[in-house]
Amino acid sequence: MPTTAMVDNSIHVARLTWLEINTQGVVDNFLLAKKIVGENVKVFPVVKADAYGLGALPLSRTLEAAGAPGLCVGLVEEAEELRLGGVKIPLILFAGLTPGTEQHIIDLDLTPFIFNLDAAKALNRLAVALNKKVNCYVKVDTGMGRIGFCRKTFQAAIKEINKMPGLIISGVVSHLACSDEGENGEVTKSQIKKMHELLAIPELAKSNQGFNSLANSGGILYHPQSHMQWVRPGIMLYGASPAYPSHTSMQDGVVGVVRWLSRIIQVAKVPSGTPLGYGHSYTTTKESKIAQIPVGYGDGYSRRLSNKGYVLIEGTKAPIVGRVCMDITAVDVTHIPDAAVGSLVTILGSDGKEQISIEMMADWIGAIPYEVICGLGKRLPRYYPINS
Ligand SMILES: Cc1ncc(COP(=O)(O)O)c(C=O)c1O
Repeated sequence: MPTTAMVDNSIHVARLTWLEINTQGVVDNFLLAKKIVGENVKVFPVVKADAYGLGALPLSRTLEAAGAPGLCVGLVEEAEELRLGGVKIPLILFAGLTPGTEQHIIDLDLTPFIFNLDAAKALNRLAVALNKKVNCYVKVDTGMGRIGFCRKTFQAAIKEINKMPGLIISGVVSHLACSDEGENGEVTKSQIKKMHELLAIPELAKSNQGFNSLANSGGILYHPQSHMQWVRPGIMLYGASPAYPSHTSMQDGVVGVVRWLSRIIQVAKVPSGTPLGYGHSYTTTKESKIAQIPVGYGDGYSRRLSNKGYVLIEGTKAPIVGRVCMDITAVDVTHIPDAAVGSLVTILGSDGKEQISIEMMADWIGAIPYEVICGLGKRLPRYYPINS
């Protein structure tokens, strides 16, 4: 008799829908960012929000192995996952310095953005008590209207931080609000100008280590003046353009990295006039062959795709018919003779000459590419084929 400890009650079946993430594509996009900014500017990939849904730990390991000097996360918990997974390079913490996180920041050896003096004081107190020095970046708001010291409070904040022996100002950072506007974007120009004005205050002369940063993907791709000492690409690493629809990933030279695949689990011939699915929102107008695929809004496949988008089967478009359910979506395969139970379904990515890009999916559901990949469901298995 097996002992209780030996009994494995978990279910081991492969789900018939999954994501394939091309790690080499992420590396190629990282190398593209490096090439654009040149060798004097460091590229710190942004892997917050589970690397925009594509898997923070495997992609962080990949990027560390590809030479990334550090990575950016949003939360202490995200940093913890990476440290537990063996990631050793510096981790920059964007907006995660909140009350109660100080001990974790020190234990996990994180480099936080400072955007609030009380939080800086608390971190400094702990650092001093532990006889440690914590590298940090002072966040300024040059026009994003989000977190950071503004022009009025910046100088006083630096005076205070200069008095905190536990903190080292590695640099000053800010975030671009409109880097997706064209190369001559006025907002970005004004943010770059403000950043330089703020960097010139005398209070920073001695304390700033001078590793300043402003650019996200849009800054990297369209605004060379924003590159400064280090840049923070997110979306371009994951295969979409930050400026879609005015730019596409192909125009930016960014390669796609994610495929979402599935297999048909049922095919049925139905007569003309058959209503399909919840709410009977679609009724066949001729004898039709309807395939069911095991994908739904429980996987992040938006219900807004109901009667709207399509998938690819045998390199042919198969339109979604009826409402997307939580676990199942129906597509019309009347015109695809080989479609059968087990046929491969491409939900995102290419099949033959056809392609469904993240950007197309974003259009279909009235979202932006960021939202499409961040919304990829947790229950979708993610695979990282070596030679994909
Ligand atoms: C502070 C900061 N820097 C960089 C990025 C990366 O932006 P993108 O994905 O547009 O490259 C983000 C993303 O939201 C961010 O919040």
